[in-house]
Amino acid sequence: MLKAIRYTVFALLLLLAGLWSWAWLARGPGQSLGESFADRLALLFGRQLSAPSAGGGLQLPAGLTLGGPFSLIRHDGQPVTERDYAGRWLLIYFGFTYCPDVCPTELGRIADVLDELGPLGEQVTPLLITIDPQRDTPAALADYVSRFHPRMQGLTGSPAQIAEVARRYRVYYARVQHPDMTDYTMDHSAFVYLVGPDARVRLLFRPETPVEEMARAIRQQLRVVTSP
Ligand code: NI
Repeated sequence: MLKAIRYTVFALLLLLAGLWSWAWLARGPGQSLGESFADRLALLFGRQLSAPSAGGGLQLPAGLTLGGPFSLIRHDGQPVTERDYAGRWLLIYFGFTYCPDVCPTELGRIADVLDELGPLGEQVTPLLITIDPQRDTPAALADYVSRFHPRMQGLTGSPAQIAEVARRYRVYYARVQHPDMTDYTMDHSAFVYLVGPDARVRLLFRPETPVEEMARAIRQQLRVVTSP
């Protein structure tokens, strides 16, 4: 009897160690070991269905909803809420215009995905929501987003409005001041969110997801919802 318990404990420990190493190996860029571990655990118990057909997109575990209402200022100075985008698909990225590399790369990829989608891409509005409202004024955003895609919109707001929308999308961001630099920078998560016509997140894309994979996953989502 005691022996059986000992074997069970040993097997459980092995399983746990295996999961941790799997989490370590399968970790996405910018993902913490804890997050990756949670992903593996969810996969093991079938909660997260990263169906192969979903391509590079991660579906949210059942019961978890992201997105919802927001109140922000568009790059043309107009106040906007999620109702202004009702019935439209959105590709949302949270970043900031002073970002040296990750943000421009991801925004460029979003533009490429829209091109890859062809006419279907016209149903999707690309949005950059800044996590640095102090420097990213509407005018600064207007200039910045126009470099990536003619239909890309930049959204800013008060620090409280930005904190609120970041909370709804579970976006991590923090101000970082290096002692040898005069300007501060921002640390932030870099997922791309596909938001459905109901303002809810349908798919998440990790940074560096290939353009073709994103396009395939988005095309599939649009078809599922658009066709009866
Ligand atoms: Ni960035």
